[in-house]
Amino acid sequence: MPITVHAVRSVPKAATASLALVTSEAVSFGVDGFDAAVLEAVGFEGKADQVHLQPAEGGFTGLVGLGPAAEVTEATVRRAGAVLARSCSRHARAAAGLPVDVSVPAAEARRALAEGVILGGYRYTAFKSSAGEDGGDSSRRLDRVDVVGSASAGAKDAVARGAAVAAGVCVARDLANEPGGSLTAPAFAEKTEAVAREAGLESKVWTTEDIEAASLGGLLGVNRGSTHPPRFVELTYEPEGTPTATLAYVGKGITFDAGGLSIKTAQGMMAMKMDMCGAAAIIGAMSVLPAVGAPVRVKAYLPMTDNMLGGDATRPGDVLTIRNGKTIEVLNTDAEGRLILADALSLACEDEPDAIIDLATLTGACMVALGPSIAGLMGNDEPFVDQVRAAADRAGERVWHLPLPADYVKQFESSVADIKNIGGPHGGALTAGLILKEFVDDDIPWVHLDIAGPARAESDDGEITKGGTGFGVRTLVELALGYTRPTPG
Ligand code: BES
Ligand code: MN
Ligand code: ZN
Repeated sequence: MPITVHAVRSVPKAATASLALVTSEAVSFGVDGFDAAVLEAVGFEGKADQVHLQPAEGGFTGLVGLGPAAEVTEATVRRAGAVLARSCSRHARAAAGLPVDVSVPAAEARRALAEGVILGGYRYTAFKSSAGEDGGDSSRRLDRVDVVGSASAGAKDAVARGAAVAAGVCVARDLANEPGGSLTAPAFAEKTEAVAREAGLESKVWTTEDIEAASLGGLLGVNRGSTHPPRFVELTYEPEGTPTATLAYVGKGITFDAGGLSIKTAQGMMAMKMDMCGAAAIIGAMSVLPAVGAPVRVKAYLPMTDNMLGGDATRPGDVLTIRNGKTIEVLNTDAEGRLILADALSLACEDEPDAIIDLATLTGACMVALGPSIAGLMGNDEPFVDQVRAAADRAGERVWHLPLPADYVKQFESSVADIKNIGGPHGGALTAGLILKEFVDDDIPWVHLDIAGPARAESDDGEITKGGTGFGVRTLVELALGYTRPTPG
């Protein structure tokens, strides 16, 4: 269970640890209740990521550093919340005090602190035999953090908003962390339905027959090597009142990517249970929209299958016909994400939304270009690209705009089909984006986020925890809250 966070007036007696977020200036001027000589002796200067804890009546009191006041942003506070949750993990209940000498507005600081606490305290314990108990490093006793200072409606709303978004990120992380042999496409679809029911979203699960009837040749082609049937899940969020717009969220849901007959190496396969992180981020984000009251309608399109090598797997050279009638020659079965997304993007376009965004762990090339922490952002419409970039900035998720060069299209010309599913040896993130673009109507604004890097982390870092990160959830929620339709003319 995620940590619960509450807004309270003053430190509750039941909290056995009480920590204040402090800037480095505050530390150099002196903090009430802390001996300057002690802080100096332990080297606590109020730098970001620094923590100091000392015994006090009824438990412990402490400080979490933020660094120089002028540099403190929402991201700094979110990170400090995560540091706090980690350093108090052995206390059942902790209290957190906000800094007074920073320019981040109090509501934003409360929201970011709640997000950071829940995200930093996240643990994946489904397969731990000692889950929930005090056994081993993965244990966490902390289940409640009180944000001290005000219990006003505004303070409570701010904390609740941060907690809701963080809970959505945890939904995505849990799905990402589940092993591929356990989270098959049918299991993934069932879990998605359960999330939808709980959150109050409409959901519809297509079985093999429905997928065949709809001619989703990409999804069926990738599924041919599998023992488990594919699924296609639609989720719909309807706002109260007239929607201000309709957005389409499309997510890659490969529950395990062995590469198909173009098999991956052992090393390359190790993290491939996470090849459904695009779909997971969308499910996590959609689960939050009712709670935050997003004003837009959002429909999600989630193709799900693993990419295996059964006896009738798609062979290099096979040709698949996508939903919209275009044909693709599959020369590398490991370039499967674009095949299932082609169907999903075609379907999304048929519904004529105001804009489409897809999220996919699509290419190793994007990780080569941008490293492990930054998503590649591509699109067919500058104003929508700017809106997504702004939403990611507000959410504190890192994206970088990459081009879709029209002259690279010739790299995936095919001699037998309309296109082939791979480009040349270089610029693989861009050719993958260009292949997706083939399945999007030119008049519908569309953005593609390649999250191959940031979907997964090698180690804990601030609000990020090792394993699935839930990257994209916060951006998608921000986008649904802030989306504005272009004014005609
Ligand atoms: N799921 C992978 C991309 C990936 C790689 C995500 C590493 C996260 C970490 C994708 O399906 C894939 O295999 N892409 C190939 C494409 C190539 C065959 C054109 C790749 O990137 O190597
Ligand atoms: Mn692949
Ligand atoms: Zn893949």
